[in-house]
Amino acid sequence: MGKFHSPRSAPVATFSMADFSLRCLLGGITPEVFLAEYWQKKPLLVRQALPGFGDWLDRGRLSELAMRDDAESRLVRFMRGQCLLDHGPFEADDLAGLPKKNWSLLVSGVNHFLPDGDALLHAFDFIPLARLDDLMVSFAPPGGGVGPHFDSYDVFLIQGQGRRRWEISAQDDLEVMDDAPLRILKRFQPDQSWELDPGDMLYLPPQYAHNGVALTACMTWSVGFRVPTAADMVGNFLNYLHDHLSPTGLYSDPDLKRPRHPAEIPDTMLNQVAAMLKAVRWDKNAVEDFLGRYLSEPKSHIFFDPPHPPLKPASFSKLAAKQGVRLDPRSQLLFRGSLFYMNGERVEAPPEILAILRSLADRRRLPPTTPTESLLPILHEWYISGYLLPGTAQ
Ligand code: SIN
Ligand code: CO
Repeated sequence: MGKFHSPRSAPVATFSMADFSLRCLLGGITPEVFLAEYWQKKPLLVRQALPGFGDWLDRGRLSELAMRDDAESRLVRFMRGQCLLDHGPFEADDLAGLPKKNWSLLVSGVNHFLPDGDALLHAFDFIPLARLDDLMVSFAPPGGGVGPHFDSYDVFLIQGQGRRRWEISAQDDLEVMDDAPLRILKRFQPDQSWELDPGDMLYLPPQYAHNGVALTACMTWSVGFRVPTAADMVGNFLNYLHDHLSPTGLYSDPDLKRPRHPAEIPDTMLNQVAAMLKAVRWDKNAVEDFLGRYLSEPKSHIFFDPPHPPLKPASFSKLAAKQGVRLDPRSQLLFRGSLFYMNGERVEAPPEILAILRSLADRRRLPPTTPTESLLPILHEWYISGYLLPGTAQ
């Protein structure tokens, strides 16, 4: 693994989240103007959105993440006019012997492993957290990229180390190649192009054709959003109903008559089953509960690390009073009204702790305070599950 570490002479990090400015991120416009004029409407290029950004990860550290089995990683290579796609986790040897040009290594969910990455992702909280997906980081040597394509989601592409040329196109022709393992556009006709330096950022709405080619060895940080399809929502809601409804009653036919065709499904059976299915009902509360659980549910490869041995409530409370608490970078805490959804699990909060729990959900941390009698059991339970940690520092 050590062979991936960058040389000692690598530049020291100059950007930290303490320097973060939302005004600067959006190029001087307010989030309100961004949402009204650009979000889901048109691209926005911001020069020096994060001045000095780029040194949190290098090729070596990204390669180490790509070897973890709790990270989603992909390797895209272009060889002899062919596109090849491999999925991680990778072995050190897979990543050490790569050519000098024309490939890209991509790791999703970097916010789960890098506390600064979690803070960067959540700096985009002028968009509801329920819409935020994850932070993906890619490394590419010169010529590397994933080919011209479009994404179904909005994306902020932040240039880390190195330089990359982005070409974009407002084209409606989104036909993709039939035989490529990635969705690569058959025809790409760029209408704008820029070279991005470290700290520059490009926002693209969904379905906007784009192609990023590394000019030097470079890293791109993508803040992506979730766009569930109607088919996803309906399928998952039906599963939710299946788990939460408890239909009662048995099929019965005391008035059964001898059938003319024994193989024919009888009318009485059809009517009785239709009546059973009519009893499947739901209201907005069920949709609300489904959404809270579904949107906060961790992806299937995410596992938490519960503390061993855990502190008892009294000691945990003392530590929280001294150091505050923060959500684990893998945790998703959402709420509606008094219902809080932590990683797919629901907690109903009493009125006196609504404000403090909402603040924890919005900011992902609480400053040092002694938890009240009704707050302590909730925080302690989340701590025991590995969802929340003492300490507010990254
Ligand atoms: C990349 O980082 O190479 C791909 C990002 C994107 O095009 O969405
Ligand atoms: Co893309």
